Amino acid sequence: MSKAPALWRRSRAFALGLALVAVLESQIGLSEARAAWQEQQDAPAKGATARSASAAKKKAAQKSARKKGRAAQKAESAPEPAAATTPAPAGSLKFSQDVAPILVANCTGCHSGNGVGLRRGKLDLSTFEKIQAGTPGHKIFVPGKPDESHLVLRVNGEETPRMPQGANNQLSDEAVSRIAQWVKEGARLDAGIDPRAKLESYASSPEQLRRKQIMAMAPAERDKKVEEAARARFKQANPKLTPTAVSSDHFMVVSNLPEDRVKTLEKTLEVSYAQLKRLLGRGAYDPVEKIGVYVFLEKADFVEFVRSVEGRDVSSEQEATARIGMPQPYIAAYDPLGGRKEEPAPKKAGRSRKRGQTSGEGSQTRTLAGLTIEALGEGLVSASGKAPRWLATGLGAYIASLHEPRNAYYQRIRQTAFENYSGGWESKSVEALGGTDQTTAADIQAVGFALVEWIMTTQLRQGFPVFVARMLEGQGQLDEALRSAYQSTREQFLKVAGDWIAGSYGRLR
Ligand code: HEC
Repeated sequence: MSKAPALWRRSRAFALGLALVAVLESQIGLSEARAAWQEQQDAPAKGATARSASAAKKKAAQKSARKKGRAAQKAESAPEPAAATTPAPAGSLKFSQDVAPILVANCTGCHSGNGVGLRRGKLDLSTFEKIQAGTPGHKIFVPGKPDESHLVLRVNGEETPRMPQGANNQLSDEAVSRIAQWVKEGARLDAGIDPRAKLESYASSPEQLRRKQIMAMAPAERDKKVEEAARARFKQANPKLTPTAVSSDHFMVVSNLPEDRVKTLEKTLEVSYAQLKRLLGRGAYDPVEKIGVYVFLEKADFVEFVRSVEGRDVSSEQEATARIGMPQPYIAAYDPLGGRKEEPAPKKAGRSRKRGQTSGEGSQTRTLAGLTIEALGEGLVSASGKAPRWLATGLGAYIASLHEPRNAYYQRIRQTAFENYSGGWESKSVEALGGTDQTTAADIQAVGFALVEWIMTTQLRQGFPVFVARMLEGQGQLDEALRSAYQSTREQFLKVAGDWIAGSYGRLR
């Protein structure tokens, strides 16, 4: 008996597999499930309860063997930790961080493999050793002497053809001077790096470098950039607008909203942001800057914003957009209230929560918070890796639904999911998950939303972080994600999901 807790801890992942079966057995009703979910939010530590101890025991042994293999796999595929910030001796540049990224981004495409820079230029820049060797005829740098180094002279234009070769390609002044400075300081490779390793294997990406630069800024300076970007983008939408910027921990609302509405919006966004971060786990994209929240009081200004800043037209239903994985990330939205004060909620919050989604009538108008939360969720998931669309849109809408549960918008999404079910769930869901041309954006969103809501309102939610972590590696990971999070095949999983959709959403009609 005393062994039981330890056993259960070890076979927790297995319990998640059982949960799939348990869900099939019990078909937990939506509103009860939501109450359970709310409770669990408050007490997240509670684990799964023992369901079928003898079956679990039998499988536990097989399980732990499999688990070991997976742990090793995990360690291998774990993203590299942020580059160590051991201070370099004053004034000295690091090849790995200061030079290699420039070469990888601008040069190795031609100067390696079958590239023309290697074939015609006879210069291989793919490893430090090869760079050191130079061309068959001569070296391309002289340590300490940038003025005598082809590597420098070719990028500053003193030797022609200028590198990187090609029409109007030119390195920034900063990149040129960094290469020159590195040669001047002795052109050394960082200690501990194998000279034969490919530059790609250790060069920070331009995005990593940009993030490091931003992190090195003082917070006030960083915020100033966020605000400047916001004002510039607002101008593109409508030069006559003079919005106010108000910051919270992770957001900067830029708008002409009344102050109390800004404060409420920021509070709500912070809560949803924390929720999303928890769900996405370590794989979550971390915007180093505050996320700008641009709110337009006129629909026309929002439409013009998307047209001029994002270079596309919005459909008439779309009222929010987000770009998170880029410099000065933002969410932009149209305020359905047009800047008016919020009406006090007509019903007590407790009552509406209990009745949940089973009530057919809900508000037809979205709330600004709901719109921005949905865009935040979608944008954050999209920025977090190679997440498929169904997961980004589904999770975004789901998180927003927690904020405005009675809104008719979600009823329509559930309706669409149910129609997908009625129209042949097996093929419909597979199409939506695969994002084929035949599927509409609404179907993809509905199937994604239904899967996320199903997972999150049942015991399956415990496996969700594992599932999501896998999915962030790409749509191709679906089968593996289902296996590692739920010990389930795609067919089993979708079958049980379909039954749940039939039971829960079918009742809503
Ligand atoms: C579009 C293909 C291309 C790209 C991109 C490119 N190169 Fe080249 N590179 C060439 C070719 C072709 C030659 C030979 C041209 C010549 O000298 O006639 C060459 C020659 C050179 C040489 C002269 C080698 C010698 O003989 O001394 C250097 C140095 C060089 N490249 C460095 C770079 C660097 C550094 C970058 C990135 C900043 C770069 N190249 C990007 C194609 C490219």
